[in-house]
Amino acid sequence: MNKAKRKAIIAGNWKMNKTRPEAKALLEAIKPLVADANGKIEVIACVPFTNLETAVNVTAGSNVKVGAENVHFEKSGAFTGEISADMLTEIGVEYVVIGHSERRQYFGETDETVNKRTKAALAAGLKPIVCVGELLWERECNITEEVIARQIKLDLFDVTAEQVKNVVIAYEPVWAIGTGKVATDEQAQEVCAFIRAQLAKLYGQDIADAVTIQYGGSMNAKNCAGLLAQPDIDGGLIGGASLKAEDFSIIVKAAVEG
Ligand code: PGA
Repeated sequence: MNKAKRKAIIAGNWKMNKTRPEAKALLEAIKPLVADANGKIEVIACVPFTNLETAVNVTAGSNVKVGAENVHFEKSGAFTGEISADMLTEIGVEYVVIGHSERRQYFGETDETVNKRTKAALAAGLKPIVCVGELLWERECNITEEVIARQIKLDLFDVTAEQVKNVVIAYEPVWAIGTGKVATDEQAQEVCAFIRAQLAKLYGQDIADAVTIQYGGSMNAKNCAGLLAQPDIDGGLIGGASLKAEDFSIIVKAAVEG
C-alpha cells in the first residue's frame, strides 16, 4: 500500500560505455519501447559526461530523463577533471548517481565525499541517486545492517527532511554488481526495508515512506519481476542490462506492473 506513496524509478547506469553516436542510437531505440511508462514510472538514463548533451537533446519531448554518473561538491575552481552541479543542470540533467561502489572502490570515494556531493547536488536542484551496499565479506561476517546503517547516516548527514524527498537510495550489494550474482528477492527486500527503517529513524515514517529505494546488481530482464514486486523495492539501477534497449524496456515494463 505504501508503494503508492512513492515514484518507481528505473535508471540505467551506462558506466564507461558508448560514444556519442552510439549513445544517440541506444536512446533512439529505448524511447519508443518505454513510452508506455509515461506518467506511471520514471525512466532515466545515467550516461557518461561526454554524452549528456546528446542525451538531453535526443530525449527531449520523451519520458526518458537524463542523469550523470558523478558530480563534484565544489561550485568551481581548481579541481582538474571534475564537473560541478551547475555544469550539469545547465545542460538539462536532472539526476546524478553518487557514491557508486565502483567510485568507492577505485576512486577513493568515502562516505564523507558522498555526503558532500549529495548536498551539492541537492543545493543545485539535482536529484541524487545515492548508492549504498555491503561487500561480500561484510555480508559473510553478518554486518550488512551495520554497514548500511552507517552509510545511510553518513551519506545523508545534514540533508534535511524536505531535501530527502528528492533523494533516491540505490541498494547495490557490491558482490552482485556486474557479477551475474543477483541478490534473492528476499535478500534485496530485507535490506531495502532496513534502509527504509533507517530513514524513518532519521526523518519519520511518513517521509521514509515517500523515498524511492532501488535495488541494483545484476538486475536483468529475467529476474526483474520478482525483485520489483517486493514491497520496499521501488525500482532498479541497471548496469549491463541498460545497454540493451529491449532488456531495459522489459525491466521498465516490470516496474510499471511492480
Ligand atoms: P549491473 O550494474 O546491473 O551491471 O550489475 C549495476 C550498477 O552498477 O549500477
